[in-house]
Amino acid sequence: MQDKTHLVDEITGHRRMRRNRKADWTRRLVQENRLTVDDLIWPIFVVPGTGIVDPIPAMPGVNRMSVDKAVEAAKEAADLGIPAIATFPDIEMELRDETGSNSLVANNLINQTTAAIKKAVPNIGIITDVALDPFTSHGHDGILRDGEIVNDETVDQVVKAAILQADAGADIIAPSEMMDGRIGAIRRGLDAAGHQSVGIMSYATKFSSGFYGPYREAINTKGLLKGDKNSYYINPANGTEAVRDAALDVEEGADMLMVKPGLAYLDICWRVKEAFGLPTFAYQVSGEYSQIKAAAMNGWIDGERIMMETLLAFKRAGCDGILTYFAPEVAKILAKR
Ligand code: PBG
Repeated sequence: MQDKTHLVDEITGHRRMRRNRKADWTRRLVQENRLTVDDLIWPIFVVPGTGIVDPIPAMPGVNRMSVDKAVEAAKEAADLGIPAIATFPDIEMELRDETGSNSLVANNLINQTTAAIKKAVPNIGIITDVALDPFTSHGHDGILRDGEIVNDETVDQVVKAAILQADAGADIIAPSEMMDGRIGAIRRGLDAAGHQSVGIMSYATKFSSGFYGPYREAINTKGLLKGDKNSYYINPANGTEAVRDAALDVEEGADMLMVKPGLAYLDICWRVKEAFGLPTFAYQVSGEYSQIKAAAMNGWIDGERIMMETLLAFKRAGCDGILTYFAPEVAKILAKR
């Protein structure tokens, strides 16, 4: 007999949300979103040399690897069922210059990595960034002239770099430098070079964010960068502008879209997916990873639980997948379930 002094009214009394939550089996039955290994893209950092596995202090558990070790990592990722990796080079300081000219060297570090992984692990997808920041002496994503990041000249160079990356075996070109008109230019360049099947994953909405801090340490652009990237990345205050920017990339021929950073921009993930219906990915960037790791290492949060919760949040926000440094860790956990 229900105690009549309870305040739940009669109508509310019929609508019990908790019925579907009452047991593990009901909860599993009504679960709307799921994270699987197929959702994961693993970003890795590559350095020159051999036999190198160099921990990145600001990203506990993440290493810079020489090409041979990157190949081993790619093999491990493929064995875990991770569909694709994204590679980022930390190139020698002597090779960095004002225009990022090393990006136009056919067998530069990033292209060596692609070729080696393609050969040894043909069944994993390789996604390469064409921004110039790993190659410039000032850490900017484009060519710097008289204090300005010049758009069209940068696009010309990025197109050439993209073709070399495709020549080396890259499956998807992911331009992150946010220059205007780059998607169309890269598409035309790839097609003219016979790379019709190489896709473009646009960093469509890349925000000028503090969350990239640890990444800049990883590829050693932190000390180089003067000023900020506000003249080409999107203002974190602007959602509608971000959707407009993505619309241009769709028009220009992007095959997939990315939102970056991830967790602070779930509204953008949702809006972009709703607006265009393209495969949409979130990049859970370095700062997001490091925050979780640091708090977990201090015993302040349950790191594994929050890792899984954040990744599921991306799925709920409409993402088809996530670029995450957690990828191998997550894949191992998912394999056990
Ligand atoms: C730059 C680039 C950035 C990241 C990847 N490529 C941002 C930046 O340095 O400004 C960030 C990735 C991360 O933080 O994990 N083209």
